[in-house]
Amino acid sequence: MKKYLVLSFLFLLAFVFICAGIDLWQPENYAAQSVPSYITLDNTPQNNLTTDKGASLGRVLFYDKQLSLDGSQACASCHHQEFAFSDTAQLSDGYKGGKTVRHAMRLVNNRFSNEIHYFWNERAATLEEQTTMPIQDHVEMGFSGSQGDPGIDSLIKRMYSLSYYPKLFKEVFGDTLITESRMQFAMGQFVRSIQSFDTKFDEGLAQAGNLNNDFPNYTGLENTGKRLFLAPPPTGGAGCQGCHKAPEFDIDPNTHNNGVIHVAGSVDDIDLDNTKAPSLRDLFNANGQLNGPLMHNGEFLTLMDVINHYDSIPNDPRNTNLDNRLRGPGGNGTQQLGLTNAQKQALVAFIKTLSGSDVYTNPKWSDPFNSDGSLTLSGLDGFEPLAQAVLQLYPNPSRGNFLIECDQALNKLEIFDQSGRHIITFDCHNSYRKELSLQAPAGIYYVTILLSNGTKQTKKLVLSQ
Ligand code: HEC
Ligand code: HEC
Repeated sequence: MKKYLVLSFLFLLAFVFICAGIDLWQPENYAAQSVPSYITLDNTPQNNLTTDKGASLGRVLFYDKQLSLDGSQACASCHHQEFAFSDTAQLSDGYKGGKTVRHAMRLVNNRFSNEIHYFWNERAATLEEQTTMPIQDHVEMGFSGSQGDPGIDSLIKRMYSLSYYPKLFKEVFGDTLITESRMQFAMGQFVRSIQSFDTKFDEGLAQAGNLNNDFPNYTGLENTGKRLFLAPPPTGGAGCQGCHKAPEFDIDPNTHNNGVIHVAGSVDDIDLDNTKAPSLRDLFNANGQLNGPLMHNGEFLTLMDVINHYDSIPNDPRNTNLDNRLRGPGGNGTQQLGLTNAQKQALVAFIKTLSGSDVYTNPKWSDPFNSDGSLTLSGLDGFEPLAQAVLQLYPNPSRGNFLIECDQALNKLEIFDQSGRHIITFDCHNSYRKELSLQAPAGIYYVTILLSNGTKQTKKLVLSQ
């Protein structure tokens, strides 16, 4: 009997062991997830197609607290899976007790949108570019390279010292080199993989075959709400579809602000540039609770507050960037919909049908780290670090400014011209990455790289005019 108990305990242990961690032998499916046929938008860039291994590395990065200066914050500290990768706090805590300026955005269905700028004010041009901005933010994760804090070079150095990153980067990119752009590729793939289509809305659309038909699986209230959402105000609708387009519910890229102009927590300060919203899917979790306060400033605590806002947009003369669709007839004043209470309830009921359940629970988007902060990697038994350092020097040809990246610490660089004459020496202070500027005539040069482990490599560098 005892033997069976021990056996079943071992079995349980093995099960827990298999569940945690990253298995690159049989990675989770990120690249070939099924997407309903009526979803036509897909902003995956040609230079960063999603692979299962690439997104798995992205998942590790997303959950790794080592990506913050003091080891306290991961992306997931503000973007929680249980809240559709948002935060219930109006403003999130940064790594040193600071607070973010805006509310943390949900990260659901980013791949399925026409808008490819990121943040509420669209200041990041691509998702890839966005992903390393929080790491280099003075408040969020701290590798800012300013105010006395080290920059991303220091993070890369730290990552080489964590056993799992050289292995993962080699598995995904073919060699152990860790660079900011490779981190961006991997995190971009992971964030783009987060999708939610198992909703009552999707069931209904599949059954009805057309957005404008009543959905057979809906209550009368939900169908009324859908009609109000889709129809423009002149025909008695609420006009939401004008900016948050079904079936993706992504934001129209050419939207101005929606009249929510206060800086979070301030009565006087205004910010007119918040013109992006995440998809309106998964505002609520599977239990019908809101995943967090709404809008860039987290000003609204209920969806009814939001609907009351659109029902009667405040007319603030300082708002010079209000979207024309939210002005009154003839472009005068602001939108006054005059919705009845029942109509408002119907809109809420409809928007509640846009929530799925898989996104909150699927292990492929969950924390892969063990509770002691270690990471279990399987499927990488044959990993051997390369004897020869991996080194990249680019752009090459270059006009004089170039970057050297290496998977081993650099001691110094010496540059020689074609006749072997020494031009200059750069000290690298054991970094893994060095930006250089060489003022010299166009031509061919040789860069001798001395690694901190005592070995040497030489690369040809072409300087152009
Ligand atoms: C300290 C909290 C915090 C951390 C840590 C954090 N974020 Fe965010 N995230 C935010 C906030 C707040 C916003 C909105 C900021 C704004 O618009 O100014 C945001 C916005 C985003 C967006 C934009 C979404 C959209 O639809 O435009 C993405 C993507 C994102 N974060 C991914 C990440 C990734 C990847 C990491 C880790 C490298 C990360 N975040 C770390 C709080 C955080
Ligand atoms: C003119 C374009 C426009 C129209 C029309 C519009 N919205 Fe918005 N919506 C926006 C913008 C822009 C934001 C982000 C604003 C911000 O946070 O400052 C937003 C944000 C939201 C948010 C908050 C999302 C979040 O993640 O916090 C909700 C909810 C919302 N809108 C619902 C609606 C509903 C319901 C309607 C119809 C009654 C509607 N919107 C009509 C442009 C529009």
